[in-house]
Amino acid sequence: MFSYRHAFHAGNHADVLKHLTLVSVVGHLTQKDVPILAVDTHAGAGVYDLEQRQAQTSGEALSGIARLRERLAEVGAPSPALADYLQALTAANPSGRQRLYPGSPWLLQHLLRDQDQLRLFEMHPTDWRVLGQHVKEWAGARRVRLDHADGFEGLPPLMPPPSRRGLVIMDPSYEIKTDYARVITSLEACLKRFATGVYLVWYPIIARPQSQQLPKQLTKLAQAAGKPWLQASLRVQSGGKGTPQRPGVVNPRSLGPLSASGVFVVNPPHTLHERLKAALPQLVKAMGQDHFAGFTLHQG
Ligand SMILES: C[S@@+](CC[C@H](N)C(=O)[O-])C[C@H]1O[C@@H](n2cnc3c(N)ncnc32)[C@H](O)[C@@H]1O
Repeated sequence: MFSYRHAFHAGNHADVLKHLTLVSVVGHLTQKDVPILAVDTHAGAGVYDLEQRQAQTSGEALSGIARLRERLAEVGAPSPALADYLQALTAANPSGRQRLYPGSPWLLQHLLRDQDQLRLFEMHPTDWRVLGQHVKEWAGARRVRLDHADGFEGLPPLMPPPSRRGLVIMDPSYEIKTDYARVITSLEACLKRFATGVYLVWYPIIARPQSQQLPKQLTKLAQAAGKPWLQASLRVQSGGKGTPQRPGVVNPRSLGPLSASGVFVVNPPHTLHERLKAALPQLVKAMGQDHFAGFTLHQG
């Protein structure tokens, strides 16, 4: 059963971290003319209306993108990664008002070029239909393929891409505990087939053993494959009860807010560390809610 709906969480601090990282990675990869295959294994609905019921009910964007925008003046001149992310958000909202929050599929189709391909996987029947509508409206729809299928399973057979240039974003809802193990299994299979691909995994930082273990397992996986990696996390407030933000199976309103999340990138662009080093303190300054707010940034 898939009950998680990203519409409740769109534009929260975790999306800001994930999408800012994604925009930086794609920006780097598209500097060379060689075609790229980008795969979004857990695509969601593509674009979210922050004035609709789900977003209004959770109010999560208020402490995420809305807070970031409100406090931009206080963080000083946006660092290059933050500026690129904000520019992408503006492109999704040409009127200037931040009503639409672009998810990873929107950002990817916006940043990819004519020669690139985008593969999207989404399991939830409603979000899959909504995303399908969006895809039809996108100018470059012919280079996008959406599958109503399991992204963990659909990904490895796509590797390696014909051009040997590829980017994967793996962003499960983690509503099913086995998602943590499936991230590792799927990534392991991909690294065997296409060791030089860029793989970006998002994960929640919550008081669940699987969540605590995941970055360690990802590090081991990258090390075993002999590949460079980068890990960044953003905390906006004290850990609280450690309740998962991505509950899905229960009423999302009944659970407390997610206070921290992380991204793990295998084969990160060489510019990514520098860009995040400048952007993360700005995110903390803008979205931090108490003195537990902070970031981590490691690479190996
Ligand atoms: C966190 S949301 C994705 C958000 C999106 N990546 C973004 O950044 O805009 C996770 C999505 O994965 C979908 N999902 C859950 N399990 C899946 C699976 N095994 N394969 C594909 N999609 C899945 C959920 O329905 C949900 O829409």
